[in-house]
Amino acid sequence: MATNLTKHNFSVSRQQRENISGHKGKVLWFTGLSGSGKSTLANSLDEKLNKKKYNTYILDGDNVRMGLNKDLGFSPEDRKENIRRISEVAKLFADSGKIVMTAFISPYSDDRDEARKLIGDDFIEIFVNTSIDKCIERDPKGLYKKALNGEIKGFTGIDAPYQEPEDAEIEIKNLSIEESMDLIIKKLKF
Ligand code: ADX
Repeated sequence: MATNLTKHNFSVSRQQRENISGHKGKVLWFTGLSGSGKSTLANSLDEKLNKKKYNTYILDGDNVRMGLNKDLGFSPEDRKENIRRISEVAKLFADSGKIVMTAFISPYSDDRDEARKLIGDDFIEIFVNTSIDKCIERDPKGLYKKALNGEIKGFTGIDAPYQEPEDAEIEIKNLSIEESMDLIIKKLKF
């Protein structure tokens, strides 16, 4: 860990940044199995809020893993580090007055709890509760097939765990995209 650091307080406050956005900064933390619909739902919500002139952004597992987190794999330690970095980045986005949606499996309760602790009141957990059977049936990237054949090891839901959230602010179960967005918008009073 680096030493001899001094926190710099910049002049423009979070409030001033939020005034320009016209709303508060927030982190909408989507969690769920691969293929559960996290990114699809985040994308539709992003489109809808963007049309209403909300200042939004998406951080997505596959995309972030091709850049910032390309040094990380899928061991429990690497997933922890993936989620830690995303939490820090999401916190910065919220501080900049944006509504940031994160779409990561984030399978471990402890890692999500750490994110919640770090981000504080701005953290809203959205559990996209699609059953493993449904995800296997959808298999949008063909990865479940590979995992079931043993071609991918440590795949979430097959031979790596997904620990379901018990205290998510919002749970999406058996809802269409429209219904899911309505639920989120209603709960968050957007
Ligand atoms: S997390 O567990 O660290 O939160 P993250 O959301 O970033 O995962 O990445 C998940 C995506 O990586 C999946 O949607 C899938 O496309 C891909 N992937 C590749 N290998 C694995 C694996 N072993 N387990 C889960 N997802 C994997």
